[in-house]
Amino acid sequence: MNSLAIEYQLLDDEKLSKAEADLASSAIQAMEMAYAPYSNFKVGSAVLLANGEVVLGNNQENAAYPSGLCAERVALFSAKSKSNEPISCIAVVATNAKGAFADAFACGNCRQVMLEYASQEVQKSPIRVIMRNHEGRFLVLDDVRKLLPFTFNSKNLG
Ligand code: THU
Repeated sequence: MNSLAIEYQLLDDEKLSKAEADLASSAIQAMEMAYAPYSNFKVGSAVLLANGEVVLGNNQENAAYPSGLCAERVALFSAKSKSNEPISCIAVVATNAKGAFADAFACGNCRQVMLEYASQEVQKSPIRVIMRNHEGRFLVLDDVRKLLPFTFNSKNLG
């Protein structure tokens, strides 16, 4: 039998670096404008670019449910629609219908999109990920690729 282990840190907010604490605050700010009338699950995301720019996103829902989009992809697509600046880090936070901290663990589709950008040639270093959990603590991964092993990527297309 084979097995995989994923390395991550679980940090209280005061243990985050200043840059990453600021990024988490930006994600919290973005969450305020989430449009989530159906799930009442609000998600905010903030993408830090190598040039220091921060791009925000939040979940945008729709009466035709699949037409909505997750916060992470709103932020990532927005960032990439403006420039091909490398991505340093992405922060994600969420609250549930009661307004309490919820696990902001990026869904599979968002992980796939993160991975796509992590594999771009412009990307000279890995994309870090910070996800706030239901206790208000932060899971920190130094490389988004750790979130999606056995990945499907452009190489699979031959
Ligand atoms: N959602 C996100 O924004 N990011 C994720 O990674 C998981 C889920 C949103 C989608 C939907 O608006 C709501 O959370 C409930 O699934």
